[in-house]
Amino acid sequence: AHVTYIEFNGTPHTVDVADGVSLMEGALQNGVPGIDGDCGGNAACATCHVYVADGWMGKIGERSESEEAMLDLADGLQENSRLACQIFASDGLEGLVVSMPESQH
Ligand code: FES
Repeated sequence: AHVTYIEFNGTPHTVDVADGVSLMEGALQNGVPGIDGDCGGNAACATCHVYVADGWMGKIGERSESEEAMLDLADGLQENSRLACQIFASDGLEGLVVSMPESQH
């Protein structure tokens, strides 16, 4: 699915993330800055924190308990906060837009 990542400074990056690949891995594979993925995708570092664009929260499923706990410790927590390593690309997410928080600038 094509996913657009918007850096904190407003720079957009639209890349094609293969089905089943997490948005964290998709960012790393495509050199999108602002997502580090330090814990390797285990919902344990929050360096892949993103804000999900309006209208998409209902389409990407619920936060798991471990994701919720990690986000509670993240800077800039918002209603639409998610960990990119816990969102996996699929046809249903074609056109998804996420943005990065100031702490990942
Ligand atoms: Fe560490 Fe997502 S990569 S929480």
